Amino acid sequence: MRKIIIAIDGYSSTGKSTIAKELARALNYVYIDTGAMYRAITLFAIQNKCIIDKEIDVKKLTGLLSEAKLEFKFNEELGYSEMFLNGKNVEKEIRSMKVSKQVSKIAVIPEVRKKLVSMQKIMGKKKGIVMDGRDIGTVVFPKAELKIFMTASPDIRAARRYKELIAKGDNVSYEEVLKNVRERDYIDSNRAMSPLLKAADALNFDNSDMGLEEQFERIHYYALQVIEKQKKNA
Ligand code: DC
Repeated sequence: MRKIIIAIDGYSSTGKSTIAKELARALNYVYIDTGAMYRAITLFAIQNKCIIDKEIDVKKLTGLLSEAKLEFKFNEELGYSEMFLNGKNVEKEIRSMKVSKQVSKIAVIPEVRKKLVSMQKIMGKKKGIVMDGRDIGTVVFPKAELKIFMTASPDIRAARRYKELIAKGDNVSYEEVLKNVRERDYIDSNRAMSPLLKAADALNFDNSDMGLEEQFERIHYYALQVIEKQKKNA
């Protein structure tokens, strides 16, 4: 069967990764969470003292960037890949508020984007991939066969994220999470390089009033339609 590239972009906490992960499992595709890559570089910046008093030392970070080794390793038990930074599993740390608060500022740095986008392009060479992020349909794979742009209202996204963080034992307030969601929307949408943007040929998918099952069923259906069309055109 001909494999395709599925690009899922959208605002933070729209549930992109949950759907992308399920979709990859159903199609037997590889799932890549590009947000995890930007988060891992942010953790690397924190570890190497490139962020002091909320200010990023861009020169120091770009000088050290070649020392940040990122790898996705498949976890058989969980059924998806986890992020490793210089040989260490950093899945838990990269999802903390400490990293969330800084990640948008790290993601605006052109050298960081260049490094990660070139890694992502290589990952998609064999197709059969579901990749989620902000610039997948616009910059990483502008020719992806299926592009989804996920949206939901900031309040709904903050409530979902808050629930997740509390369940993980993070000590945060709803207001703090909402503020972070709004700040990240602003920075992600207004940066000069690869801002968050719906590709002209992406399907707009507002999941504010949709449960996970319905979202999965709809997107899975779109994917099967595109795969079917590819087969007919082959
Ligand atoms: O999807 P996420 O919330 O884990 O992403 C974390 C941050 O990384 C987000 O604020 C924007 C940035 N990001 C990006 O700029 N480009 C991507 N392809 C993925 C994430």
